Amino acid sequence: MASEKITRSAWSGKWAFILAAAASAVGLGNLWRFPYLAAKYGGGMFLIVYIILVVTFGFALMMAETALGRKTGQSAIGAFSAFGKKYMIIGILASAVPFIITPYYALIGGWVTKYMAAYLVQPATEIADGAFFGGFILQNAESYVWMLLFIACVVLIVALGVKNGIERVNKVLMPALIVMAIGISIFALTLPGALDGLAYYLIPDVSKFSVELVVAAMGQMFFSLSLAMGIMITYGSYFSKKEDLEHSVRRIELFDTGIAILAGLMIIPAAVAVQGSGEAVATTAGPGLMFGVLPQVFTGFGFAANAVGFLFFALVFFAALTSCISLFETLVSIVDDATHKGRKFSITVCAVFVVIVGIIVNLGYNELLSVDLMYSLFGIGEYQDSQILDFFDFLSNTIMMPIVALLTCIFIGWIVKPQTIIAEVKQSSKFSGEKLFVVMIKYIAPVLVVVILVAYVMNTAHIISL
Ligand code: PHE
Repeated sequence: MASEKITRSAWSGKWAFILAAAASAVGLGNLWRFPYLAAKYGGGMFLIVYIILVVTFGFALMMAETALGRKTGQSAIGAFSAFGKKYMIIGILASAVPFIITPYYALIGGWVTKYMAAYLVQPATEIADGAFFGGFILQNAESYVWMLLFIACVVLIVALGVKNGIERVNKVLMPALIVMAIGISIFALTLPGALDGLAYYLIPDVSKFSVELVVAAMGQMFFSLSLAMGIMITYGSYFSKKEDLEHSVRRIELFDTGIAILAGLMIIPAAVAVQGSGEAVATTAGPGLMFGVLPQVFTGFGFAANAVGFLFFALVFFAALTSCISLFETLVSIVDDATHKGRKFSITVCAVFVVIVGIIVNLGYNELLSVDLMYSLFGIGEYQDSQILDFFDFLSNTIMMPIVALLTCIFIGWIVKPQTIIAEVKQSSKFSGEKLFVVMIKYIAPVLVVVILVAYVMNTAHIISL
């Protein structure tokens, strides 16, 4: 599409790209999802597997996606079909992922909004009460209101085209979030028993290694780095032909992973302090972890608890908002490219979609509480220990993204050949991770995805037991 190339604006420089990509990448994935997965999958072992995956697989995939975008100047669907119509399917599969993620992302965004507001009007001790979270999400019409409010913020910002303003504000808020998270982490470590939690989080226990752990870490890596869903291809398409791609990719990874590790530091030692042991935390950790543990930490701030709670959730709110804006923008541009009916039409369609599917996900905590798709479809877990949100999350992170990543590796490694990407990267800089890139994309990453997924499926179906 020639016209697309002309209108496609370029990033003003490397840092503009890094900041925009970081604003998209840093969100609920780092702050909400990473800590509960790390807590659930044995702390230190999960952390180390995650870091190894980020610097090897994640690095190779992010290089591939951004360079593919820059080379073709297109978003996912166009980028893959630029090499032949039959490869379009990879772009289509990748584009389906944000449609699964956005609705449940917005639901969690609503939870964050509720907590931010609650700290303005309710004593911090009430919010820290064990029953507060359940009372809010379970069988409660209020949860719909907060989700709709969060979606309204996202849609309005995109519709009014004031996204850039938000991103500029974010440049101030993101460092504030980091400073606050460091402060809260230090405070949390003073709680009695927190040092055991620190050990649980940082020291790998080899006996905790499992196939599920690797599957979870891999899904989390895709989710947090915004990989295997077409988004980094789009970001790359805006990237200037003169700037150093490799350097930018490493910066984004460092930033994103640093914040995830920090979020774990803030939540996991405190969770262990509250619940007594890493094992106790592991058996109960789930999407509610952050909302249960942090309010308890905040009560320790005494008279300042409400201020601390409000400020913290306000910062999380902004991080979630910018990520959800980038997700929503992606949906809009996919619908727009497919229908050519104009932005207004696409925004409306996507908003209606996110609201309807978001409501369905939320029904999983209300009228549809007894529905357990994970258990009834895949036999995973015990009956009723997962909700519709877990099912959507599973569909995107454990099924779709690994498949898209695998197809991308095969496409780059064996069809268009790594040289296509290497040449693109070298247009603007040297490529010091070139060998790593080739070995990962051609051999290790695809084999890893296949082995892990097959082992996982067999394990879940009780054909083998790992
Ligand atoms: N990576 C974001 C997070 O960690 C989620 C996201 C994915 C945002 C894709 C935008 C696009 O929260």
